[in-house]
Amino acid sequence: MLDVVVAKPVLPSTGALVLPVEEGGGAQAAGWAGLDAATGGAIGRALEVTEFKGRKGQTTVVLAPGAGLSRVVAVGVGKAADLTPLAAEEAGGQAIALLAREETVAVAPGPLSPSLAAHLGLGAVLRSYRFDRYRTTEKPEDKPRLKTLALLADDAAATRTAWAALHPVAEGVFLTRDVVSEPANVLTPAEFARRCEPLTSLGLSVEVFGPQQMADLGFGALLGVAQGSANEPRMVVMRWHGAGDDAKPLAFVGKGVTFDTGGISIKPAAGMEDMKWDMAGAGAVIGLMAALAGRRAKANVVGLVGLVENMPSGSAQRPGDVVKTYSGQTVEVINTDAEGRLVLADVLWYCQKRFEPRFMIDLATLTGAMIISLGHEIGGFFSNDDDLANRLHAAGEATGERLWRLPLGDTYEKQIKSDIADMKNVGGRPAGAITAAQFLQRFVNGKPWAHLDIAGMVWASKDSALALKGATGYGVRLLDHFVAENYES
Ligand code: BES
Ligand code: MN
Ligand code: ZN
Repeated sequence: MLDVVVAKPVLPSTGALVLPVEEGGGAQAAGWAGLDAATGGAIGRALEVTEFKGRKGQTTVVLAPGAGLSRVVAVGVGKAADLTPLAAEEAGGQAIALLAREETVAVAPGPLSPSLAAHLGLGAVLRSYRFDRYRTTEKPEDKPRLKTLALLADDAAATRTAWAALHPVAEGVFLTRDVVSEPANVLTPAEFARRCEPLTSLGLSVEVFGPQQMADLGFGALLGVAQGSANEPRMVVMRWHGAGDDAKPLAFVGKGVTFDTGGISIKPAAGMEDMKWDMAGAGAVIGLMAALAGRRAKANVVGLVGLVENMPSGSAQRPGDVVKTYSGQTVEVINTDAEGRLVLADVLWYCQKRFEPRFMIDLATLTGAMIISLGHEIGGFFSNDDDLANRLHAAGEATGERLWRLPLGDTYEKQIKSDIADMKNVGGRPAGAITAAQFLQRFVNGKPWAHLDIAGMVWASKDSALALKGATGYGVRLLDHFVAENYES
């Protein structure tokens, strides 16, 4: 990761400089710490000819302005009243997108408080992530070179403290992006579980369950999905103990289908490679647990991931098979491609039974129907608890990892009635995301719960302010903020 340091607010004599400018600040911002004089007015003139007004998202790049600087990027942060942590992050990301060829970048304090400066740093760090493991022939001069980001601050101590709380969040997002980016031949269920184990160094406890332990427990639904694959399933339970012994834990549960071919109800070939990221719910859970432990969150939290590969083979589950879930309820598997809900059914039941959590929140790339509903802009969610729902929605607005609530309701139950078992695993095309949520609700035992269908959010086909195209790391900042705001006092 890009190294973030905090330094005294003196004009650097080499490298690049980011100049956050408030709307209306305009050219006069170029006067910072003698910058205007040192560069013979070059910055001010550039801002003027580019009609730079400091509007949110506006940028001007000044090449070789003098004073030893290679580039200055002025980035608009908008009006003071709109200067939120998210706006600062996006400004950091936008600036860094223009500075990939630099090794060291300093950020002038501008109008930013220590906290906002740290958030700008977070945005810069997030935007600088690239999954590079499998590029072997790229020329060194084509590689991103950014190594150090210096936040120049009047109050260095406060800026350092603010960054110390955000650095683990960036680490968590990177961990999520790493596992979501990995191809499925590398990231099998067993490999995902192995990547959870180093989290013990952060003080998390990590337990890994193999197929025999899950069979002994009676995880018939999860194991039914796994049975077609040569790669064994796993369940991982991660626990963070940051509050008193008597505090009930918050629980996060992730769908970890390391590859989803659809099984015998096989998917079309075109685009199937996307299904390597069908474990992004689990990816968000591991990143979240790393972030919470990394910043020593004052809450008790458990994270559970159900890890399977959904393959067609001679041992695969067939359409029409009936499986017995850990809850005791039976499911007729009409479509083997509706596998995520089968995996989550057993893990959710296990979670509520063992931990009696304050609530459970599951994350899953569960349905294509959710992408049809909300596209790639907003994640969909469902909850049986209005208070929980409102807090999740608010966390989405604050972090920019937005969420929109969709309804649950008994009238959808008829769609998942089976003629021979307690339910079937698909409810037909109408309201496909809702009937999936309705299915999951049968495995939460009436406990407070929310289901986040993040199918449209975890992978981006275009660069954005905070990420290159590819794995977004969606869910980590959302839920880290949700925990910090609501459950750590
Ligand atoms: N992993 C998919 C959902 C998905 C599809 C996520 C496309 C991201 C992009 C899930 O397991 C699935 O296949 N769902 C089916 C359910 C259907 C068979 C009821 C779907 O959405 O088509
Ligand atoms: Mn599927
Ligand atoms: Zn799937």
